[in-house]
Amino acid sequence: MDTRAFGATGAQLPVIGMGSWQTLDLPASEQPLANEVVNAALGAGTTVFDSSPMYGSSEERLGEALEPRRGDAFLATKTWSRTQGAAEARYEEQLRFFGGHVELMQIHNLLDWEERLAWLERERDAGRVGLIGATHYSSDAFGDLERVMRTGRIAAIQIPYNPEEREVEERILPLAEELGLGVVVMRPLGGGSLARLSPSPDELAELGVETWAQALLKWALADPRVHVLIPATSKPERAAENAAAGSGPALDPEQRALVERIATG
Ligand SMILES: NC(=O)c1ccc[n+]([C@@H]2O[C@H](COP(=O)([O-])OP(=O)(O)OC[C@H]3O[C@@H](n4cnc5c(N)ncnc54)[C@H](OP(=O)(O)O)[C@@H]3O)[C@@H](O)[C@H]2O)c1
Repeated sequence: MDTRAFGATGAQLPVIGMGSWQTLDLPASEQPLANEVVNAALGAGTTVFDSSPMYGSSEERLGEALEPRRGDAFLATKTWSRTQGAAEARYEEQLRFFGGHVELMQIHNLLDWEERLAWLERERDAGRVGLIGATHYSSDAFGDLERVMRTGRIAAIQIPYNPEEREVEERILPLAEELGLGVVVMRPLGGGSLARLSPSPDELAELGVETWAQALLKWALADPRVHVLIPATSKPERAAENAAAGSGPALDPEQRALVERIATG
């Protein structure tokens, strides 16, 4: 497994990180809840946290929650603005939220990626950005994502991957492996819809997990081309539950096939 792109996490890869879309888009008055969720994740050994300017106030809540332990976190966020001026203005705020440094800055939905990439390379060379990445949620854009990957100028991609969304297996994951890129998995619980299924106790025992969400996370972790999963939750106890999927035995091929049968009916 290639670990170059995420070597900075200092962790044994692959790892369970945490996303923040919707779950940390909270008003300032709910900062204590954001702190609880983030502290539960940190306490369970989670180090990678993902956000974006697209997620409302989540960057601000995440930054404040991480502040006491910023040095323990690998912070991944994104640039997502229609103009270069707006991207740079938001970036100044992001640096303020995250203590002057972003470990992984991703071009969200490949928006104006040529201009953003040249700028982020300058920021990386100046030491304020660690790694540069690119993300897309839609398989319709995977051709464009492939082109960006082939420039050799990004270190990581963020893509959707779960038993119902497997388009990345065709070309994106093989190319990431060939190029040695880090792979961050968004939507590992299918945006929550897959997590709502209820397999039987016998099935959970066969999968060697305590909860179905853990089986879904282990399903993606079992792909050797994957480095980091970023499930999102608004509940501290689920942050710990999700983190626990990162330890214990990996799913074998039969267990992985069982997860697919349960997930896809
Ligand atoms: N770049 C992009 O285009 C893009 C697009 C989508 C997402 N993302 C990133 O990827 C992250 C993850 O994707 P996502 O948030 O869309 O989906 P997800 O992580 O697959 O699912 C999140 C949902 O699952 C529920 N959940 C979490 N842990 C659970 C558990 N242990 N048991 C049962 N339900 C559980 C959460 O509800 P509760 O809050 O009730 O726990 C939440 O509704 C995002 O937060 C974001 O950082 C990026």
